[in-house]
Amino acid sequence: MKALRVGVMGYGTVGRGVVRMLLDHADLLEARTGCAVTLRYIADHNTESDRGVVLPETVTLLNDAHKMIESEDVDVICELIGGTGIAKTLVLKALQQGKHVVTANKALIATHGNELIAAADASGVELMFEASTAGTIPIIKSLREALAGNEIREIYGILNGTCNYILTEMREKGLPFETVLADAQQKGYAEADPTFDVDGIDAAHKLTILASIAFGMPLSFDAVSVEGIRHVSAVDIAWATEMGYRIKLLGIAKRCDGKVQLRVQPVLVEEESMLGAVEGVFNAVFVNSDFAGSTMYYGRGAGEEPTASAVVSDLIDIARNVQAGAKMPRIYPLGQPTAQLSMPT
Ligand code: HSE
Repeated sequence: MKALRVGVMGYGTVGRGVVRMLLDHADLLEARTGCAVTLRYIADHNTESDRGVVLPETVTLLNDAHKMIESEDVDVICELIGGTGIAKTLVLKALQQGKHVVTANKALIATHGNELIAAADASGVELMFEASTAGTIPIIKSLREALAGNEIREIYGILNGTCNYILTEMREKGLPFETVLADAQQKGYAEADPTFDVDGIDAAHKLTILASIAFGMPLSFDAVSVEGIRHVSAVDIAWATEMGYRIKLLGIAKRCDGKVQLRVQPVLVEEESMLGAVEGVFNAVFVNSDFAGSTMYYGRGAGEEPTASAVVSDLIDIARNVQAGAKMPRIYPLGQPTAQLSMPT
């Protein structure tokens, strides 16, 4: 039987979820891919803390990610460190050394994805990032597979679970912004630097990725017009509620006259609408396309297990290709945009 040997880089909230899923579901993954998907390494600067996971002897815990990447005993690296510093260096190194990479890192893909995709292409390996966008919702796979025959007109939705959680708790419980943010951090929803969440940057990273796949454009983070929720007050929320609306932070990518506009901003949505009903840490994405019409995708946007599920779904795709001896067709058609960017005014 063929094997896919996995190294996990970053043993925090999401890393722990991926490790648990690979260990708990090893038989299931083998049955569904025909390939033995085996965890070989975990690398983290902190090898001391007890994560509450019993590792089998076949798994080596390292504090040096370079050693893991250089090992001949690993085929795919899961990058779960986050950020664009050391994570970029390590991902680039892994790709250049001929390892597949699966990442949940939206900041990395949105801001350095063009370079990393080129490196993956040069080495003939995969760079996959389903978990980077909308948590457990399979939105990248939906655009790439189920909707691949469609021309996409518009994508919009709630892309940041922390902001949706904050807005929901402020309205339902009358709690102040700072209290709910601290709670979201404690639950592992928020980014290490929560300004990325509340200032809309995290949602803009995700919108950048979706737009690139939907419209065949290079990743263009700098083209997103971004406004977060920091200035949304309890009074705004109370007024919106009285008028029958919810305030939601939306990411919107819209094709208009052959151009695409990218925006992240707080928007009033009717409380009875499908987006109005999306509360708490959940995300929802609408896609309007020419033949499929309007489709909606809904699920948990953050957290250990939902994000791990998305990471493992990419490992499954790679394992199936390994088993079939196939290479996944390039899904990010850089250089052949179907639409030009238009900077919002
Ligand atoms: N901080 C992100 C969010 C995590 O709240 O949506 C998942 O990308």
